[in-house]
Amino acid sequence: MKKNIFIIGGSLRKKSYNKFLASNLIEIGKNDFNFEIFSDFNLLPMYNTDDHSENDWPSALLEIGDKIKNADGVIFITPEYNFSVPGYLKNCIDWISRLPNQPLDKKPVCIQSASLGPLGGARVQYHLRQILVFLNARVMNKNEIFVTFAKTKFDETGKLIDEQTINFIKDQLNGFKIFINE
Ligand code: FNR
Repeated sequence: MKKNIFIIGGSLRKKSYNKFLASNLIEIGKNDFNFEIFSDFNLLPMYNTDDHSENDWPSALLEIGDKIKNADGVIFITPEYNFSVPGYLKNCIDWISRLPNQPLDKKPVCIQSASLGPLGGARVQYHLRQILVFLNARVMNKNEIFVTFAKTKFDETGKLIDEQTINFIKDQLNGFKIFINE
């Protein structure tokens, strides 16, 4: 049976390489997975404890929480900002972390990143992993996906055109399918 995966990914940019990467998973993983992508981070205001109570949450957050709870796994796909997690993604995770029955608890997770540089976001992935330790997500260690020199890996429509990257992603998704069942 196909696994349902909720992708939290991309950046706020319209032509975000990480958004492109997320959309390509729909084709690459179509035999084994159904994907739903969340990248509209603007729907969440900056987190402030004063602005909500236990019964009063932004509707977008409740939707994200339900999607995570109902998914077999979550894939984070993110750029690296200043060697770390972009503010809008950290804000999103901070919101998620406050939800009752915190939805990332024990949830199978894997990570991908794309950047313009030669490391493909290697450093953001380890900061994100650290955050996910606190949330007790079950993060897959290998295979890792770092899309380096992202400008050269997609065509103008956002299609991934690099065979090696596509094969790396196939390997990661195959591993994630097994990991979800473990
Ligand atoms: C970047 N970029 C970047 N790249 C990188 O490899 N390591 C880094 O630490 C940073 N830092 C950084 C900070 C800020 C504020 C910006 C705007 C950008 C460059 C980044 O890889 C590039 O802008 C990507 O295109 C961002 O991903 P999206 O928006 O295309 O998904």
